[in-house]
Amino acid sequence: MNKKVRKAIIPAAGLGTRFLPLTKAMPKEMLPVGDKPTIQYIVEEAIDSGIEDIIIVTGKGKRAIEDHFDNNRDLEENLLKQEKLELLEKVRACSKIEIHYIRQKEPKGLGHAVWSARKFIGDEPFAVLLGDDIVQSEKPCLKQLIEQYNKSGSSVIGVQQIPENETDRYGIVEPGIVNGRFVEVINFIEKPKLGTAPSNLAIIGRYVLTPEIFGLLERLEAGAGGEIQLTDAIQKLNKIQKVFAYQFEGKRHDVGDMLGFIRTTMEFALENPEFGEEVEIMMKEMLVEKAKKFVY
Ligand code: UTP
Repeated sequence: MNKKVRKAIIPAAGLGTRFLPLTKAMPKEMLPVGDKPTIQYIVEEAIDSGIEDIIIVTGKGKRAIEDHFDNNRDLEENLLKQEKLELLEKVRACSKIEIHYIRQKEPKGLGHAVWSARKFIGDEPFAVLLGDDIVQSEKPCLKQLIEQYNKSGSSVIGVQQIPENETDRYGIVEPGIVNGRFVEVINFIEKPKLGTAPSNLAIIGRYVLTPEIFGLLERLEAGAGGEIQLTDAIQKLNKIQKVFAYQFEGKRHDVGDMLGFIRTTMEFALENPEFGEEVEIMMKEMLVEKAKKFVY
């Protein structure tokens, strides 16, 4: 019987340089998508997947994340006085979840951020969720991976197909035997140069890993971009125990760069049951306005 996946790490100590100057004083994990910050979607996915304990790896300038998941008695009392009960419920829901925090003293890379949480995890399998992707799916994305872990007892990495001309932005999988959505992995390659990628199966920020990864991370040297890369450690792990990829079902929204973020914000606004229709009208009006500028 495989050990249960109970704990999750959410690394959130990166500098968010792709969003500067927006992220100079505000964590990129707190950028709003609809009525929630991006990290709340990630925390909710973990909880909905059966995770019992969450640790967020934070760094300099990330206090807003802790405040978001903390109690805010003054705000709650105010909402109660004004009888804004629906809002009160939403605010309370954020602080109901118990979250642990650890600081990564320097942003040395995703691998280093995961390694920073090793004492919290101990000797059991665990999940990693990155805030760069929000996944909308019937069954939570992480839950799909955990089910695969439960069957195989092996580390399982979430992947999806991406366009060929974007393979230099992702960790890419060289597939072996493919069994439906479950893929044997020969190699993991971090950000291969365009035209050299062995497939278009990209790692999408959801992982179930065995604790042996920590020993490998400890000895790992900096890789692409001068950072300690989680993908490099997973590649090493794959040499000592089998690691599989799983093509999860669901719509993935890339909120890790500006264009993806803008697109996601627009999609969520359009889907909003309260004001989606009005947003659609607004967008159409804007396009008409824009087109008019070119008519003389
Ligand atoms: P990213 O590379 O997408 O995040 O790392 P970043 O470094 O904040 O963004 P850019 O590239 O400068 O714009 C993926 C995830 O890993 C975390 C980030 O917070 C993000 O959630 N991370 C990255 C860390 O926690 N520590 C690090 O040293 C690096």
